[in-house]
Amino acid sequence: TEENESFTENFPTDGENKNVEEQYADYSGAQVFSVKLKSSEHKRMFQQLEDRELIDVWLHKRSKKRSRAEFMVLRENMQEVLSLFYEADIQPKIVIPNMQRLIEKEKKAETLTNSTLRSGHGMNWNEYHRYSTIHSFLLHYANAYPDICTLKTIGKTVENRDIQMLKISSGGNENKTAIFIDGGMHAREWITPAAVTYIIKELVDNRAKYRSFVDDVDFHIVPLVNVDGYEYSHTRDRLWRKNRADLWGPCNGVDLNRNFGYKWGTSGSSFIGCSQIYRGSAGFSEPESKAIRDYIMESTANFQAYLSFHSYGQLILYPYGYANNELPSDADDLKRLGNAAASAVRKLSKTRYTVGNSAEVLYRSSGASDDWAKGEAGIKYSYVIELSDTGKYGFMLPERLIKPTAADALEIVKVVADEVMGLY
Ligand code: ARG
Ligand code: ZN
Repeated sequence: TEENESFTENFPTDGENKNVEEQYADYSGAQVFSVKLKSSEHKRMFQQLEDRELIDVWLHKRSKKRSRAEFMVLRENMQEVLSLFYEADIQPKIVIPNMQRLIEKEKKAETLTNSTLRSGHGMNWNEYHRYSTIHSFLLHYANAYPDICTLKTIGKTVENRDIQMLKISSGGNENKTAIFIDGGMHAREWITPAAVTYIIKELVDNRAKYRSFVDDVDFHIVPLVNVDGYEYSHTRDRLWRKNRADLWGPCNGVDLNRNFGYKWGTSGSSFIGCSQIYRGSAGFSEPESKAIRDYIMESTANFQAYLSFHSYGQLILYPYGYANNELPSDADDLKRLGNAAASAVRKLSKTRYTVGNSAEVLYRSSGASDDWAKGEAGIKYSYVIELSDTGKYGFMLPERLIKPTAADALEIVKVVADEVMGLY
């Protein structure tokens, strides 16, 4: 049973841990580059740089023969990395010349707006917010609209924070057609909890306008899966990706999107704790991925779609990602609906989304939640949606682009909801 938590509306304090500034990871001298990898030697060489953790891969997109990759290089690795590219006759292009300056610019904008007094739940889509504000926002909606919104804690993070799920339902039976949506699985992808909370707000505030599907489809929404990592990316390290698992050894964190227990550990993930794509000690070793699994498996809802929001790249990806040429038998349906969503977005805002199988468009990676949702939970329309942009700012998407990006995300949800209503 789901119950709204009782609460007194609390005013957010986005500045929790105000005095940690001096411990904030310093990216002075770090730069982000883009390269084209034209041959298999180039790709192998690039893979080695990733394996040796000399680079942090931000995006690696394949198309036909050549692939394009974006990655960050820290100051201490710069010489070695650049000379290896030079030897291989590859010319990296600079995308972000001064990582630290960009981080500081973002922080400054944040303190300016966050210091102005906000009323109510404090949420808006002009700026990125801390967990406490997202929490207040969810509580506010659950409290203000108890007839359609139910808030539930579906689990605890490694550091004992609540993982929250808001269900939007116009009522009816417990096994209604439903869509599961999540965001914030990767800490640094700040646009995703912003976009997913925007989706909540729009669906609820405009439920009359969206009646055609809000009446017939339930939405189970987790705007922020990786709460610990997200907070850490605000207080300590802007580019943190993983959760905050306390590992034995020098490095912390498990990549939650390599920790789902379907074809876990088969490819495109690492068994080394320091890796950005560390898969954990076993499938579902982490409380955050487990919370999602348990919730979906224990629910009586008839889930017909699973949408996991990530950034960046403007991609609508469908399974499977764990191996090459492993398509579900209904891949044509997933492709068709993906294309329909992409066209709707294009019509709305001119933003171009690429649709395709994730192993084909990106790279192989096993243990991702979309593969699990499709292969194990049997949810038909399972997608990873990589929101804006395509590389100009990457994870550092400026706050003025939150609203337009979130509107694109909502458009995708609308197309998917239209498709699945009435599916049994
Ligand atoms: N950028 C996402 C990640 O690295 C892509 C996941 C794609 N899905 C998949 N099953 N491999 O986690
Ligand atoms: Zn991601």
